[in-house]
Amino acid sequence: MTDKNEWGSNLSFVFAMIGSAVGLGNIWRYPYVLYSNGGGAFYIPYIVAILIMGIPFLILEYGVGYNFKSSFAKAARKINSKCEYLGWFLPVAVFMIMIYYSAILGWDGIYMMLSFTKGWGADPNNFFTTTLLQSSDSFMGLLNFIPVIAVAMLAGWIIIWFISHRDLEQGLGKVSKILVPLLFIIMIIIVAFSLTLPGASIGLAELFNPDWSLLTHFEIWMAAFGQIVFSLSLGMSIAFTYASYVKDDADLITNTISIALANSLFENFAALGVFSILGYMSLQSGTPVADLVSQGTGLVFIVYPTVFNVLGQWAYVLGPLFFLTVYLAGLTSILSTIEPLSFSIQNKFASTRSRTMTALIIVAAAISMIYATSFGGSLLGFVDTFINQIALLLGVVIECIVFAWIFKVEKLIDFLNSKSKTIKLGKWWLIIVKYILPIFISIIWIGGMFDVAK
Ligand code: PFF
Repeated sequence: MTDKNEWGSNLSFVFAMIGSAVGLGNIWRYPYVLYSNGGGAFYIPYIVAILIMGIPFLILEYGVGYNFKSSFAKAARKINSKCEYLGWFLPVAVFMIMIYYSAILGWDGIYMMLSFTKGWGADPNNFFTTTLLQSSDSFMGLLNFIPVIAVAMLAGWIIIWFISHRDLEQGLGKVSKILVPLLFIIMIIIVAFSLTLPGASIGLAELFNPDWSLLTHFEIWMAAFGQIVFSLSLGMSIAFTYASYVKDDADLITNTISIALANSLFENFAALGVFSILGYMSLQSGTPVADLVSQGTGLVFIVYPTVFNVLGQWAYVLGPLFFLTVYLAGLTSILSTIEPLSFSIQNKFASTRSRTMTALIIVAAAISMIYATSFGGSLLGFVDTFINQIALLLGVVIECIVFAWIFKVEKLIDFLNSKSKTIKLGKWWLIIVKYILPIFISIIWIGGMFDVAK
């Protein structure tokens, strides 16, 4: 039985946090969000979102987690016994994210195998929507594919269990130090190759072409804040839990800046790669880039196979590499989403890490089968909207209120500053986490609710 929840070094903590941040959101979500929200003009709300939300909020979550050195639910109870249910709400919500996220990972595993032979056939759109997603008119397709999906998902869960049930440093710590650098290396190879393709500049011109008029629209600001919340995994008690595992002295402020930078670097690399390839394809097929872009899972599972179909021999290298990147990025994020609930259960019921992880993973694996097989895209789409527009932003507001107001985070400033080798916190930080963020995010949240209701 293992029970150690402690990073071996600051490096393990930073890499694990980058692993949590860099995920499907960076690869399939960001390029599309950038493109459809003003292109080059999107960088203004994007940078504002990082500066007034991403970095200040992460420092808040880290600071409080590091201070309590206990699970999220336990800390919430200590702050105020009435807050305990909030302390359980977030870990449970993030656990749900993990389950839906794992379905995409399962599909990606299948595509990784298919990419060696271009097994999706000449019409990837048809393959994805009828054979894999089992739209109702193709029930036979569903029956044929259930065993394949089940095996892919099971393989993923076994890997997750293998890493998660060990001592923290032996599993997650070690794996993050290997996978995160590997992820960046593969991404750099993909981008370098994509940029040399004929037509790459067409795709990039289309991507960055700024539409300044959108800056006065509410939606682009909402998109930027939503993207940063999702991409940096904010407000989900993950940063809190990871920081509570830090036992030695750590410069949390500088760590935060490194993590936010690495995350943005990765997603902008991904955007370069995605749009260079789309430009190439547009040149080959004569279809405008705008028509090739579709959202989310569609971009990964329909557009990419279509691109690989026209890419000739290179596709056999680039295809597996691409789906491997998505897999590793998704895996390191999923690993982070089990930690808050697992640690909260361990603290509450005095159970061991390995036993808690094993139980949680069995439950998650069972539910994920339902996501990935029976309901396909519709349920997944609903959960995605629920999580992005409702749960994540709500998490940020809840944490601002509980940590900044009820816990009174000003008591941590001197301590955090004493360790910092870069910026120092001051009144500006308190104003952001106490006033600007809760008010601003609430406005965006209400706007998002109207959007969902529409
Ligand atoms: N940050 C991850 C990504 O960009 O893909 C996704 C994510 C993981 C979001 C965990 C939220 C979360 F709690």
